[in-house]
Amino acid sequence: MPATLASDPPSARPGVPRVAVRRLVLTDFRNYTALSLDGDGRHVVLAGENGAGKTNVLESLSLLSPGRGLRRARLDEMARLGGSGLWSVFVRLDGPDGEVGIGTGIEARGEEEMLARRVRIDGETARSAEDLLDHVRVSWLTPAMDGLFTGPASERRRFLDRLVLALSPGHGAHVSAFEKAMRGRNRLLEEDRLDLAWLEAIEAQMAELGVAVSLARVETVACLERLIAATRTDAPFPHADLALEGEIEALVAAGGPAADAEDAYRARLRDGRRRDKAAGRTLDGPHRADLIVHHGPKAMPAHLSSTGEQKALLLGLVLAHARLVGETCGRAPLLLLDEVAAHLDPRRRAELFDVVEALGSQCWMTGTDASAFAALGERAVVFEVSGGSVRRT
Ligand SMILES: Nc1ncnc2c1ncn2[C@@H]1O[C@H](COP(=O)(O)OP(=O)(O)O)[C@@H](O)[C@H]1O
Ligand SMILES: [Mg+2]
Repeated sequence: MPATLASDPPSARPGVPRVAVRRLVLTDFRNYTALSLDGDGRHVVLAGENGAGKTNVLESLSLLSPGRGLRRARLDEMARLGGSGLWSVFVRLDGPDGEVGIGTGIEARGEEEMLARRVRIDGETARSAEDLLDHVRVSWLTPAMDGLFTGPASERRRFLDRLVLALSPGHGAHVSAFEKAMRGRNRLLEEDRLDLAWLEAIEAQMAELGVAVSLARVETVACLERLIAATRTDAPFPHADLALEGEIEALVAAGGPAADAEDAYRARLRDGRRRDKAAGRTLDGPHRADLIVHHGPKAMPAHLSSTGEQKALLLGLVLAHARLVGETCGRAPLLLLDEVAAHLDPRRRAELFDVVEALGSQCWMTGTDASAFAALGERAVVFEVSGGSVRRT
C-alpha cells in the first residue's frame, strides 16, 4: 500500500493516496491583494456572503490544472482590478511523493510579450502547464455548470474533454492542435486558388489528431461507464448512462487499427471539401461530438429531468469521475465543489461528505452558511471569507 501521511484522516481510501493543499497564497488575484490560507490537509469549507470571494479561491485552485480554470477567464481578468496587472497563485501540496510547491500566474507584462501563464514547480519553470498533471489532478463542479445538459453540445464537449484530460495528459494539447489545423483548413478552402498539397497535409494532420482526440474520449467514457456500472448501487446520487455521439468517435469505437480510422476520416475530409467550402467550415470531425447523458434510474434524457435531478446527476458523474481518476492515476484528485451543499437535504449532504471522504480526495467546498457543513465535523477546517480576507473559525 502506498504510504500516506501521518496526518491523513484515517478514513482516506486505502490505496488511493491523497493530494492535499496545505497552504495557498494569492497575490493580486481577483479580489485578493494578499491572501495566505493555511490548512492542515483536511477538507476546507469556505463560508461567506455572496460576493465575498469564495469562488475566486476555488478558481485559483482550478489553475493547478492546465487550461483556463473553472471560469475559463482570460488571464487579465484574473488580475486584481487596481493592481499592477500581474498576479500569482502559490500552493504547497502534500502528495504521495512528498511536498511540492506550485506557483502560477503572470510574472511580467512586456509590451511585446503575449500574456502567458507561467507555471513553476518547486521553483523550476515548467515546460508546459501539462507538467502539473504529474502532481495533481483537479475536478470541479460549479453553479455555472447547472445548464450543462440543456445547453449547447460545445459545453458538454468541453466538460468531457476536461474529464479526459484528468486521465490522459496529452489530450488538451491534441484538442488545441486539432482546432488550429482545422482553422487552417477552413482558411485554405476559403481561398480561390486552392493549394492542394497543403490541404492534403493539413487534412492528414487533422485525421491523426482527430482520431487521437476521439480515441481518448471513447476510452474515458468506456472506463467511466464500467466504473458507474460497478458502483451505482451504493452511490447516493443517481447514476448517469453515458453515450458518445460523433462520427469520428463512432469510427474509433468500431475498433480496428487507429490508422484505418485516420484513413477513413481523411477520405471524408477530402470528399467533403466542396461542401465544407460552401458551408464556410468543416462539418465532419471530433469538434461536432456530444456527450449524451441519461438519468439512469429514470431512463430519461438528462435535459428532461428536473433541475434538482440534473444537479444530482451531474454531482454523481463528477464524483464517479473523481473515483476513476484516483484509481487510474494513483492519486485522488482535488475536488472543488462550489455551492453544492445548499441544494441538498441534510441526509444527502451527509452522504456527499462520506463519498468524498471515501474517494480520498481533499475537497474544497463553499457555501453562504457554515452550518450546512456541520456533518463534516473534524474532517474539515472552516474559513470565514469576507472583505478580501479569510479567517479560520
Ligand atoms: N479581477 C478582479 N479584481 C477585483 N475584484 C474582482 C475581480 N474579479 C472579480 N472580483 C470581485 O470578486 C467578487 C466575487 O467573488 P466570488 O468569489 O465570485 O464571490 P462568492 O463568494 O460569491 O463566490 C465580486 O465582488 C467581484 O467584483
Ligand atoms: Mg460563488
